[in-house]
Amino acid sequence: MEIHASVDALRATLSQLRRAGKTIAFVPTMGNLHAGHISLMHQARGHADIVVASIFVNRLQFGPNEDFDKYPRTFEADCTQLRQAGIDVLFAPTEADLYPEPQTYTIEPPDIQFMLEGECRPGHFRGVATVVMKLFQIVQPDVALFGKKDYQQLMVLRNMGRQFMLPIQIIGGETVRAEDGLALSSRNGYLSPAERAEAPRLQRCLQDIRQAVLNGEKNFDALCQKACTELDSHGWQTDYISIRRQQDLMPASPEDHNLVVVAASRLGTPRLLDNLEI
Ligand code: PAJ
Repeated sequence: MEIHASVDALRATLSQLRRAGKTIAFVPTMGNLHAGHISLMHQARGHADIVVASIFVNRLQFGPNEDFDKYPRTFEADCTQLRQAGIDVLFAPTEADLYPEPQTYTIEPPDIQFMLEGECRPGHFRGVATVVMKLFQIVQPDVALFGKKDYQQLMVLRNMGRQFMLPIQIIGGETVRAEDGLALSSRNGYLSPAERAEAPRLQRCLQDIRQAVLNGEKNFDALCQKACTELDSHGWQTDYISIRRQQDLMPASPEDHNLVVVAASRLGTPRLLDNLEI
């Protein structure tokens, strides 16, 4: 695996590969890799000749009171996993490489950036879209993969790619979970043992909602409120649980098809995010 921090060095390597006719699949990450990331890497392999991963903890997408400084950085262990997954090229820039000057030009996603995650994390999706646009300009992949775990992120980036007519196919990967159902996340490491034992309740609540909707329950608000109450009575602080339309993440009505229930709730320090398609 070739590792580059410099934009110019990475571009030189990739343009050589492209001239040799190779197609490129790209998986951007913030590191602290787990089986969810690695599953995207394996899927990427099926879509192109060369797989490029990136590791960059992107300050722009963290709020002032969020965990940017504490975000787990495990570069050596990440490299081991990426080598095992057969990644060809790793782009691991420093902040000076990627933001040599303050990033005053930004990508401003539409109103979707202000709801759900965006409402709880102002500026988050601007930061995500801006860094991903930069990474796309640098790597110029044919295909890029993102996890459905971050459902709203996937939608923001898909829409960005379409509206800017980027010649990049965006592919969504299924969420990888622990055996007890908890979606894998770099932030799960912040959970105490007791919280870790409690954490799968979030996914169980989403499954209950899904089952109720499939059984014909039409009062979506009541279903979500019930799940909220259950979580909060077990020590969670829920930001939202909501049944939405998959196509645009707008609130769903019982006549809609292709739904997704999305949730974010804090358990101790970490805020856990999950969703389930219906
Ligand atoms: P990060 O949280 O490191 O996630 C990198 C990719 O892995 C994202 O596409 C995310 O959706 C996916 N992912 C995370 N957990 C997953 C799981 N359990 N199963 C499947 N996929 C999973 O998301 C980011 O980084 C950043 O916002 C980034 C897109 C890199 C921009 O900075």
